[in-house]
Amino acid sequence: MKTKLCEMFGIEVPIVAFSHCRDVVVAAAKAGGLGVFGADTSTPEQLAIELQWIEDHIDGRPYGVDVLFPKVHDDVASHANEDPLSLIPKGHRDFVQNLLASHGVPQLPGDEEDKMLREMLNRKKGTPAFTHELLEVVFKFPGVKLIVSAIGTPPQSVVDRAHAAGIKFGAMVGKPEHARRQRDAGADLLIAQGHEAGGHTGEITTMVLTPQIVDAVAPLPVLAAGGIGRGRQLAAALALGAEGVWCGSVWLTTQESDAPPALRERLLAAQSSDTVRTRAFTGKPGRFLKSAWSDAWGAPDAPSPLGRPLQYFLRTPAFARIDRVGAKALVSSPIGQIVGEMNEESTVRQVFMDMLTEYADAVERLQRVSQD
Ligand SMILES: Cc1cc2nc3c(=O)[nH]c(=O)nc-3n(C[C@H](O)[C@H](O)[C@H](O)COP(=O)(O)O)c2cc1C
Repeated sequence: MKTKLCEMFGIEVPIVAFSHCRDVVVAAAKAGGLGVFGADTSTPEQLAIELQWIEDHIDGRPYGVDVLFPKVHDDVASHANEDPLSLIPKGHRDFVQNLLASHGVPQLPGDEEDKMLREMLNRKKGTPAFTHELLEVVFKFPGVKLIVSAIGTPPQSVVDRAHAAGIKFGAMVGKPEHARRQRDAGADLLIAQGHEAGGHTGEITTMVLTPQIVDAVAPLPVLAAGGIGRGRQLAAALALGAEGVWCGSVWLTTQESDAPPALRERLLAAQSSDTVRTRAFTGKPGRFLKSAWSDAWGAPDAPSPLGRPLQYFLRTPAFARIDRVGAKALVSSPIGQIVGEMNEESTVRQVFMDMLTEYADAVERLQRVSQD
């Protein structure tokens, strides 16, 4: 296949795999696509280890890194080194403690929870200051050929530095005005992410958003994201004017994914209607697997979720507890509506093969109906 995306990175098929799991990134590259590593969940030290592993296993193929440049965030940076608990209202902490206790989820041993909170606060996690530290690591790895900015526009200096290093700059967008802003900031590539996507997502669906973004920033290449996991959707994305697709959810049930067993089991059983867009996980609207956590925060007597990143600070130790015991009712993850199609465990290569086979059938069908 030959699209602008394939030409830009010298890849064979226009499929981008976004993942926080390094094995997925490498497997996607080896299947002919482009892997993009989500850096936000790593510390700078962990990120250096992950990227070194990718470089050691990817056989010189290009890959990307995704970071967050939040436009709006709580002012946690000016409170670094303070007691993190003083930033989170007691009512919210009690709400979480009661919810987890009602599901029999034990506390973390010793002072682990306190340490986790202090580490996030001291590092200014969830703020642009933290992202800058991650980028210092990213710029040390020569295999990185794409940096993607999510949930905001990066400073010009970051885009200029990427370009000077021969790295393309991409941006996730959910509205035409976001796309124009990112184009003006120097983006080489836009990712139009629709409402049905997993993770932070807007209100416009992929079907409506993709052609709007394509037209808004032509001739810049646009990828379609959100609700894409099979070949008919790849064909539709190209028909909408995209130069490729960007998928996040579909890798979570592959063998390469590091999704814990309790989550994997719930994802394989979930229908497309089992996701919810909520602020309960990060403080910003995002699509997640419905769970006792999202139900509780959606109840009429629940406190209003905090902002970003304080809601993330509140939820991170809670999910460490939930995942430690595999509390099935509470486990969750960012996940899109495509989860309804993720019904058996696969491999990254198999997902690519299935998508490409169905894509070929879809193209053949279009040719047939056009001739009839
Ligand atoms: C588990 C998971 C984590 C995600 N984390 C991020 C992230 O850190 N940064 C980002 O730009 N997008 C993130 N996303 C969104 C993806 O980049 C992608 O746009 C989205 O998954 C596409 O829609 P799909 O889920 O229908 O494939 C995440 C998605 C998932 C499923």
